[in-house]
Amino acid sequence: MAGSGDLIGGIRRDRLEAVATREAKRFAAGRKKTEAALAKGAERFLDAVPMHWMKDWPMPFPLLVETARGARLTDLDGYDIDDFCLGDTGSMFGHSPKPVAKAIRRQARNGLTYMLPTETALEAGALLTERFGDFRWQIATTATDANRFALRVARAVTGKPKVLVFNGCYHGTVDDAMVTIRDGRTITRPGLTGQVTDLATLAACAEFNDLSGVEALLKTGEIAAILTEPVMTNSCMVLPEPDFHAGLRALATKYGALLIIDETHTISSGLGGYTNVHGLDPDIFVVGKCVAGGMPTAVWGLRPKVAADYLRYNAGRPSGHSGMGTTLSANPMQFACLRANLAEVMTARAYARMEKGAKRLEEGLGAVIAKHKAPWHVVRVGARVEFICAEGPLRNGSDAAAAHQPEVEATIHTALLNRGCLIAPFHNMMLVSPATKKRQIDRLVAAFDEILTELSA
Ligand SMILES: Cc1ncc(COP(=O)(O)O)c(C=O)c1O
Repeated sequence: MAGSGDLIGGIRRDRLEAVATREAKRFAAGRKKTEAALAKGAERFLDAVPMHWMKDWPMPFPLLVETARGARLTDLDGYDIDDFCLGDTGSMFGHSPKPVAKAIRRQARNGLTYMLPTETALEAGALLTERFGDFRWQIATTATDANRFALRVARAVTGKPKVLVFNGCYHGTVDDAMVTIRDGRTITRPGLTGQVTDLATLAACAEFNDLSGVEALLKTGEIAAILTEPVMTNSCMVLPEPDFHAGLRALATKYGALLIIDETHTISSGLGGYTNVHGLDPDIFVVGKCVAGGMPTAVWGLRPKVAADYLRYNAGRPSGHSGMGTTLSANPMQFACLRANLAEVMTARAYARMEKGAKRLEEGLGAVIAKHKAPWHVVRVGARVEFICAEGPLRNGSDAAAAHQPEVEATIHTALLNRGCLIAPFHNMMLVSPATKKRQIDRLVAAFDEILTELSA
């Protein structure tokens, strides 16, 4: 690596800028068809994309995907791309897993949505319990919604107003979680569009891995629930210290708060998610994205005692809308996919393959980093691998914010794509699906090596 001068994440700024410019040009030069299609059709969307964050990918303009199969995309210009982003977990089991695609075809003959359950829904409920444990389930369409509804229940049954979240967390676009810490105080995160409420009235923010900070907030008596991912997968990748989760469980119980574990990303850990693999004991369990094989679906489950408390509360509340539920949620298509995915796709065998491939990727990237003496590190959570352009381990969201190197990362992302490998935007996350081949992993490692060689030249 460079030994002197203006360094970003260990890379010389002038070198980084030269590589970034060249890679952006190479991307654009090879995608004339995409560029022309966007020029014709994009203006009909607000800010030229159907979802605003599609602009946040680092390439000069977005890819237009033509087909997606297994762990591979083909774009409009005909490039085959090894997909390690996998819809940022929505397609963690591969694109259109066969049993799920078959379930979609079958259900399409019997209606898409009718606000009533099916027998398949009952089978899916049994499978959810078999996979994730003894919870009383509800179905939502996004993990954002599942978390919002879980928080309503937590406030209802505890009678307390606030949620405790960790600095740097992400649980979807849940308003309550959009807080950070400044000078030791919880504040609304800057940058939220149209924000009018002071979110510190709804939430309290602690640092991950800081049990005494958590206890200080619980002592106020205001905390209805602790909402956390088992690993902070949205803040680089911050692992819990050995006693952190046991400590959270004990503190939640001691102070009468519920523990909500959001497994939306850590479902990569293995069968039953991090909760099952590492023996956590949440009061409320949330998982979304890939749980129905890519069909928009999320589930949230209450432990039987919490469910009983909620039903008692529900029986006594004034009539009117609960603030939970959306019209298209729990539709028969979701259940058909949920059943197919839980029974035939999300299996121990699939996880064994994913784990093996992800370990190969972790070791490969780690060896490249060591070879180039980059001050970087790699973290893996089951099938989920992240390289971080700073030294580790990271302890909390503040460490992660300092470790994040947007310019270096954006350059690497585009350069990887130019070498046929797509990784998740915003940070450096890669998923290994059951469909991911060894040679795809080796190609990614080789591309990473080539790029680091150029960056450190
Ligand atoms: C941990 C976690 N929870 C919830 C969500 C929200 O999922 P969705 O965008 O499907 O609402 C995300 C999205 O990235 C997430 O990472």
